[in-house]
Amino acid sequence: MTAYLGIDIGTSAVKVLLVDSLGNVHDSHTETYGIDSPKPLWNEQNPDIWWRATCSSIHALKSKNTTVWQDIAAIGLSGQMHGAVCLDENGTPLRPAILWNDGRAFEQSQTLNRICPNIGHVAGVPAMPGFTAPKLLWLYDNEPELFRRIHKVLLPKDYVRLQLTGTYFTDISDAAGTLWLDEAKRNWDDDILGACHLNRSQMPSLAEGNENTGALLAHVAIEWGLSQDVFVVGGAGDASAGGIGIGAINEGDAFLSLGTSGQIFVAKEQYTANPDAYIHAFAHALPNRWCHMACLLNGASPLNWFASITSTPIATLLEEAESHYDIHQTVYFLPYLTGERTPHNNPFATGAFDGLTAHTQRYDMAVAILEGIAFSFRDCIEALNQNDHPLTALGAIGGGTKSAFWLQILADVLNVSIHKYQGSETGPAMGAARLAILGHTQQDIEAICTAPSVERVFQPNRNRHSVYLKKHAHFGQLYQALLPTNRQETC
Ligand code: XUL
Repeated sequence: MTAYLGIDIGTSAVKVLLVDSLGNVHDSHTETYGIDSPKPLWNEQNPDIWWRATCSSIHALKSKNTTVWQDIAAIGLSGQMHGAVCLDENGTPLRPAILWNDGRAFEQSQTLNRICPNIGHVAGVPAMPGFTAPKLLWLYDNEPELFRRIHKVLLPKDYVRLQLTGTYFTDISDAAGTLWLDEAKRNWDDDILGACHLNRSQMPSLAEGNENTGALLAHVAIEWGLSQDVFVVGGAGDASAGGIGIGAINEGDAFLSLGTSGQIFVAKEQYTANPDAYIHAFAHALPNRWCHMACLLNGASPLNWFASITSTPIATLLEEAESHYDIHQTVYFLPYLTGERTPHNNPFATGAFDGLTAHTQRYDMAVAILEGIAFSFRDCIEALNQNDHPLTALGAIGGGTKSAFWLQILADVLNVSIHKYQGSETGPAMGAARLAILGHTQQDIEAICTAPSVERVFQPNRNRHSVYLKKHAHFGQLYQALLPTNRQETC
């Protein structure tokens, strides 16, 4: 059999999938790591932890799959988007990478929106602090010595590609999240680059997700026990890779991703932008396809936070929440632990519990967290519905989809039916593997990017939805009421 690797460079872990030529998972391995937050609003990672975690995952998989290993023909990469990896002329990182959930570049986002008033239409969305472009302006303003030494700016997964192939490439869907891409033309935009004091020679070359970007370097091929003919395809940013993994490639195919971050993603066959609603109108990872995305910085991560500060496993929190569940409970939670992107564009937003009394239990707070994140997704769906046909069904991917209880809350809050697919937790790594299959076999896109079989459908309940509509309104008022305590409002 021919085999492929899908490698996802996530925010909290690297996940590697070993699949066959139909995309069936043969084996997988995950290596976790942390985020450094040296200052408020800052989130960074040293690029070498991605490479080290990738290599350990490969060694773990190789030792368990000796027979299949020789059949690996191509590798696909996916990864956390928007990170700024600044390299000197030897390809060495000049500083830790600044991640997608870093809020330091708020002022620079406003500057960029002022200098490039058309940016929302060209680059698909107005500048917000998490995107790559404003981060580079921040470096220009705050670390000028280092800025002068920047030879290339890469995205996280493309740093791993550099180690694998020695080539400087990114794929179009990840380039989309830099804000330097002209989304309609699928090419770098010299004006927006110029506004950041950069030019296209400092950018990686562009490839579609299924295009070959180079074969393995000899020493990597030896170290990984693979043939030197194995090549790496463009791959995709994690949002698009998630879409490829569950077959969301045609007009209107929509899904919800509940990982560290959260998205509602709708595939598009043409490029149209809606910058006022902070919808990300980005290029998809396959030629002539785009998407609309509403993005939450706080997906399932507040539940991880609560599990960690209460020293309680997530599974226990979910069990307690479900067994004590009362839809009329009045504890509310704003999930903005790392600020928020859609719909607020406010890196200074903070999390909050409301309605606590002496009777409040841990499970009330856990329910409030699950509901609060679902309310955030409702904000996303409202932003998306402004210019799309109202969504009635969503696929679901990401670690958070393990909880049927949470998926039912989401279906009730959003008033959509939610389709949980088999293998929904594999997420972006599956999209990366499918792009490798496409690049190697040149098969028809529709034949490979199919929807997996549905494991369970969660139908919305009309009565619960009407209760949730009122609770969602209170959630919105709470955000507005607390705005003055945030450092700065939306721009
Ligand atoms: C998408 C986004 C996240 C990150 C991290 O815009 O910010 O998907 O890529 O997962």
